Amino acid sequence: MQMTLVFASDHAGRELRWELINHMRPVGVDIIDLGTHTTESVDYPDYAHRLCDELVRNPKYMGVLICGTGIGMSIAANRHPHIRCAVATSPEMARWAREHNDANVLALGARVIDAPMARLILDTFLVACYEAGTPITERHDRRLAKLTPPA
Ligand code: RB5
Repeated sequence: MQMTLVFASDHAGRELRWELINHMRPVGVDIIDLGTHTTESVDYPDYAHRLCDELVRNPKYMGVLICGTGIGMSIAANRHPHIRCAVATSPEMARWAREHNDANVLALGARVIDAPMARLILDTFLVACYEAGTPITERHDRRLAKLTPPA
């Protein structure tokens, strides 16, 4: 199935976002770029919320959020009930975020990783799958269900 990848960043993540979009274009995935498109300082939650709104309309899409550290973006994104956003600073974190947490959004920090590492992390995130259809899945499903706080 054709994959759609939605990108958004603040000013700190703008260049790395371009790097990753250029990295992904030859792969043939559909790309939606939500900005920011200028060098002006912007507020990362605005871009995180914009991307999460796109994913609520299109639950099959995957997202990539980039700010200075990835932390602000992930905090903002994880306030949306349908989002499981993981900051990754290594390919291992990206793989487990998919396999164990079924993360649908990857957060990256442009001030803490370089472009080659970011490309490796993104590739790993996209190739990895949630561990479905095995006895292992049951415990992951149970834990994911518990992410919603009790009423
Ligand atoms: C912007 O200076 C910076 O605070 C932001 O990109 C991000 O790192 C916040 O988590």
